[in-house]
Amino acid sequence: MADAPVTTKPAVLILLGPPGAGKGTQARMLQEDFGLVQLSTGDLLRAAVAQGTPAGLAAKAVMEAGGLVSDDIVLAILRDRMAEPDVSHGIILDGFPRTDGQASALDALLDETGQSVTAAISMEVDDGAMVDRVAGRYTCAKCGEGYHDSFKVPAKAGVCDKCGSTEFKRRPDDNAETVRARLEAYHDQTAPLIAYYEGQGVLKRVDAMGEIADVRAELAGIVKDVAG
Ligand code: AP5
Repeated sequence: MADAPVTTKPAVLILLGPPGAGKGTQARMLQEDFGLVQLSTGDLLRAAVAQGTPAGLAAKAVMEAGGLVSDDIVLAILRDRMAEPDVSHGIILDGFPRTDGQASALDALLDETGQSVTAAISMEVDDGAMVDRVAGRYTCAKCGEGYHDSFKVPAKAGVCDKCGSTEFKRRPDDNAETVRARLEAYHDQTAPLIAYYEGQGVLKRVDAMGEIADVRAELAGIVKDVAG
């Protein structure tokens, strides 16, 4: 009798960490390295704001103040994105979940397709360094590649390494005051999820204070281990 076909479920990875921990930077690299799809609720919300959708209009002021957008809005946006076919390659959730309610809703959503969280990776950093990281951040206006005034500059000044564009932009919530509010929201509402995923036996911790390349290598080791 032929062996039953081996079915592997797509990986579901979560990057947990405060603003500036490097979630977006590393999620894009994991996407390149492993073909996983980055799902950033921050990016999805910013797109909704730019398009002026009802969700975007409701989220705008909250995001500019550094608070958390309501679970209802975030879950509706994420659910739509997770219905697209590319998620079958496996996903890296960047900035989601951020509350107990979002974590439970994610479990229920995955359960509908017999999936569960493969690993939740806590990117551990010193809060004090995060204000400088976030305040120095900018991205390519065309392809979204991320840069930093000191830590990650383009090889040729003023020209994006990835697409050659010379247009860059900065986020309106990347100022010192809003970053402090975002750090507070992280510690109050998101950091408790570290214990939640520890309880599920899927928590991994990464020292995210090192060089970007070192953090990338550490994360790659985890991904190979849990989803390789
Ligand atoms: P979101 O867009 O998710 O922002 P965030 O969580 O505050 O995180 P950041 O994007 O600021 O930081 P990051 O960890 O991605 O760091 P990055 O890689 O860019 O959310 C924005 C807002 O949307 C929230 O405040 C909230 O209002 C709303 N929102 C989003 N999701 C939500 C949800 N689920 N529920 C409710 N509301 C939600 O790195 C930062 C900089 O540092 C870069 O310049 C980078 O080049 C540099 N850098 C990265 N790694 C290193 C390193 N190792 N060493 C030195 N520099 C580094």
